[in-house]
Amino acid sequence: MASEKIFRAFFIFCLFSLTKGNIVVDEECLNYTVYPVQYELNIYPYIYPHRAYYDCELTITIIANAPNVNVIELDAKDLEFESGSIKVYDGPRDIINVARPFEYNYLTSKLHIYLNEPLKVYQVNDRHFYFIKISFRKQVNKDSTGVFLAKYYDERSEQDKYLFTTRLSPNKAKYFFPCFENPRFEAVYKFKVYIVKQLPELQYTNTSLVIAEEQRRDGIKGDYIVVDYIPSPQVGLHQVGFHYSQFASSRVQARVVNDTLIIWAPKDELRDYQFIHNYGITIINLIHEYSKENRPLVQGPINLIAVPADINGYEIGSWNLLTNGEHRLAKIDQFTSIKQIEYMTFELAQQLCRIWLGNPGEVERTRWKEEWFKEGMATYLAYYFLTQYNHGIMTQERRRLAAYGLQMKHKAMAVDWHRSTPALDTFNTSLAIEIPPRYKELVTMKTGAILWMLENWVESDKFHYALVNYIKSRRGKYISLQDFTTTLDHDTIECLHQFFNGSTASRILGSWFRRRGYPVINVQVLRDRSPNAVQLKQRQFSFNRENREVTDFLIPISYVVENNQNCYNCYRPRFTIGAQTYTFGEVLNDGWIILNRQGSGYYRVNYDPFTWRLIAKTLKENMMSIDELNRAQIVNDVFALYVAGDLDIDLAMEILEYLDKERSPVVWESVLSGYDMLMIEGAACNMTRHLYWEWESFMVKKITPIYTQLVKSKDNQYLMRLFRSSVVELACSLNYEPCHYHVKDLYIEDTRHKHNLFPDCRMSYFFKVANDTSMKTFLRKLNQIELDDKNTADKKVRERNRFFAKSPIGEPRPMPIAMSTTTEKAIETVTEKLQTGGGSSSVKYSLFIIFIAIFINIFAR
Ligand SMILES: *[C@@H]1O[C@H](CO)[C@@H](O)[C@H](O)[C@H]1NC(C)=O
Ligand SMILES: *[C@@H]1O[C@H](CO)[C@@H](O)[C@H](O)[C@H]1NC(C)=O
Ligand SMILES: *[C@@H]1O[C@H](CO)[C@@H](O)[C@H](O)[C@H]1NC(C)=O
Ligand SMILES: *[C@@H]1O[C@H](CO)[C@@H](O)[C@H](O)[C@H]1NC(C)=O
Ligand SMILES: *[C@@H]1O[C@H](CO)[C@@H](O)[C@H](O)[C@H]1NC(C)=O
Ligand SMILES: *[C@@H]1O[C@H](CO)[C@@H](O)[C@H](O)[C@H]1NC(C)=O
Ligand SMILES: *[C@@H]1O[C@H](CO)[C@@H](O)[C@H](O)[C@H]1NC(C)=O
Repeated sequence: MASEKIFRAFFIFCLFSLTKGNIVVDEECLNYTVYPVQYELNIYPYIYPHRAYYDCELTITIIANAPNVNVIELDAKDLEFESGSIKVYDGPRDIINVARPFEYNYLTSKLHIYLNEPLKVYQVNDRHFYFIKISFRKQVNKDSTGVFLAKYYDERSEQDKYLFTTRLSPNKAKYFFPCFENPRFEAVYKFKVYIVKQLPELQYTNTSLVIAEEQRRDGIKGDYIVVDYIPSPQVGLHQVGFHYSQFASSRVQARVVNDTLIIWAPKDELRDYQFIHNYGITIINLIHEYSKENRPLVQGPINLIAVPADINGYEIGSWNLLTNGEHRLAKIDQFTSIKQIEYMTFELAQQLCRIWLGNPGEVERTRWKEEWFKEGMATYLAYYFLTQYNHGIMTQERRRLAAYGLQMKHKAMAVDWHRSTPALDTFNTSLAIEIPPRYKELVTMKTGAILWMLENWVESDKFHYALVNYIKSRRGKYISLQDFTTTLDHDTIECLHQFFNGSTASRILGSWFRRRGYPVINVQVLRDRSPNAVQLKQRQFSFNRENREVTDFLIPISYVVENNQNCYNCYRPRFTIGAQTYTFGEVLNDGWIILNRQGSGYYRVNYDPFTWRLIAKTLKENMMSIDELNRAQIVNDVFALYVAGDLDIDLAMEILEYLDKERSPVVWESVLSGYDMLMIEGAACNMTRHLYWEWESFMVKKITPIYTQLVKSKDNQYLMRLFRSSVVELACSLNYEPCHYHVKDLYIEDTRHKHNLFPDCRMSYFFKVANDTSMKTFLRKLNQIELDDKNTADKKVRERNRFFAKSPIGEPRPMPIAMSTTTEKAIETVTEKLQTGGGSSSVKYSLFIIFIAIFINIFAR
């Protein structure tokens, strides 16, 4: 039993604990009294039409870490064991307490096994292994946790079929088999699956996949086929997986390096997954190209399984057995929207990047001390590879992240402002699976956005060069944040010291990882000096009134100016500002200055009103003179600053006035995420329903031209569809009537099976349907792909209704802006009359009019 593999596994475990004593993970492991070294699972699955279960013979090899252990405590839930089915062997002797073998506590889900004698402590010169043997049965149904049954319709046999699949992340292994449920314990898993050959009633099933490669299949006694797997690498319980079905597969091979991607689905549906399959291998090829080394991501193939169940997303820790909901993998033109394609490609790229950055199945295991940092890095790289993939149109040159960078930043900023938001480094000691779902976006997107900021300071080529070399040099070792930044300092030193005035990348990054939230920089230009003085001051950005203290982020500042002939500092980020007001001279020649070139800095900028007006004027008259990414940044900041009560509505609308001429997808994407902020509860802008309606009608005017253009356009290329989908979504959520009609028409055409792009606007349709009970919903039962959209739309409508219910009705603002210009005109004409003279009575009369005009004017403000 104690095969060589066990010894090796244990030896590895010891090594980690002894040599890397500074790493918390392993210290904790040593604390436990009993440690599992290997789990051996013999599984006998049975799928009947109305009942499914598996029997399992489990052997856990354990060692004792402390003296006087008389009780072994295991976790187990919803499993059936019979008395007499549990044994603990010391060699050939069963040492279980016969009088009181075990107790199961339903409340705590703990299985206590009582022993006759204490376990002997494992020592290097007295290697003592014990074997716990447990037989149990597990009933599996559709709603079970951890391991569950999924149903699909098989076109070939015209029957419903069933399959078993597991999702053990983050802590559901105890539903699968009795275990020591501690995510930091790593053990070897040996699987044997006994497939019953043919039985009446029994569903014939022969696809069995686990986290290790199949070694061989034997027939025994004519009843079973035994599938024997090689021992798995050392993994945590949440990384274990088992899949049992009648799926077929298709495999592709990477171009240069020996990596294989296999897709699993019902035979007649495989074609629906061809897109994701080809995409996946393309990303793997891109990763190989990027990493410039001849090293496979994993030993053995990567299996990608389309599970017909409502599963949303991959398991973070999975590396060779990737399961996801079929609706997250299939591309069916009739149903799959462009946004869904966008999302599924991102998701797979992210998972493949996690695998590349370190996984149990690689030749030498790379581990990350801060798993949140790995998550962020995987997200950043996923967007990087998506950019290179470029919707299948690949070119040789390296493309810049730009649009995705902004997206990451805006997603992160939307969640990263509240007082209770944690700083990234509070997750230092959490495993990736332990990061609560509500902070997933924060961890992945914020880290990604900060890496993007870093890329822009250091320059893209240098950054990627340093990154790849770093990862390469740490293969088979530990990667830590500290080590990463120190190496980066070293590798990029010559370009950094000139930008950062002595500050190093590690110091600067540290300031962003250690603090929660992000700053807003207030820019005040003193134009009465020559050269003009520009004052910068930072504080915490917040949508509500609290939490606005002065901050000390180290911010590398980059800027552009309107009249840039003599610009001193324009083309590089040059210096950082700390907590004090920072003042520098710059020749602006009555023009504007715009901070945060290309919007890559993880902060917002507010200018003095005069500078804002200059920016607004340029946007209106010559918007192309401001870079697209900067325009995107500006509009998003304007919404945010307005909602935070830092910018008044007139000025905000004056800046956004130009949007009816805006044609850039990046900018509109940024408007979309900006507009969502209007619904932030408790924001300092004191939002009322009337104010909201005013914004709504303002935005309708702004969106009409681009909306009309996009809806008419016959261009169905990827980016165009994405753009159209976003704009239609915004237009419909603004209650723009033509948009509702358009979406309804598309729906009707869709039901008549005319080819069109209804899926791209399906979300808007659901949005309308959810709010409007008089409208017909779908004629047939929705499939999972459609339900995905429906759930999102329903959630949005609920949020919106809650927001409206909570916000006060308010009053219409006294007078639209147009009125004030007429009063100004009135004053002018009156003044003219005064100047041209007239009788005293007419003077009195005119004065009266001036009085009225001024009154109206005051009232209007
Ligand atoms: C490890 O042991 C120490 C001292 O025996 C104890 O205080 C600590 O809580 C233990 N840690 C864990 C994770 O059990
Ligand atoms: C599984 O069964 C199918 C027939 O349903 C057969 O084509 C396939 O080869 C079998 N797979 C294995 C691994 O035996
Ligand atoms: C490629 O990987 C497969 C298993 O995934 C293995 O059988 C084969 O020998 C490998 N080929 C090379 C050239 O390493
Ligand atoms: C997290 O780790 C970093 C780098 O090792 C360290 O500088 C920081 O103080 C840690 N933060 C916390 C909250 O433990
Ligand atoms: C750069 O460093 C010098 C000397 O250390 C200091 O006087 C100056 O204020 C720094 N500049 C910035 C922009 O931090
Ligand atoms: C919102 O209301 C508060 C208190 O009623 C007031 O002090 C503040 O000025 C208002 N903010 C705006 C932007 O009107
Ligand atoms: C939802 O319905 C209400 C009342 O029917 C209407 O006032 C509101 O504008 C609608 N909202 C949307 C987004 O259609």
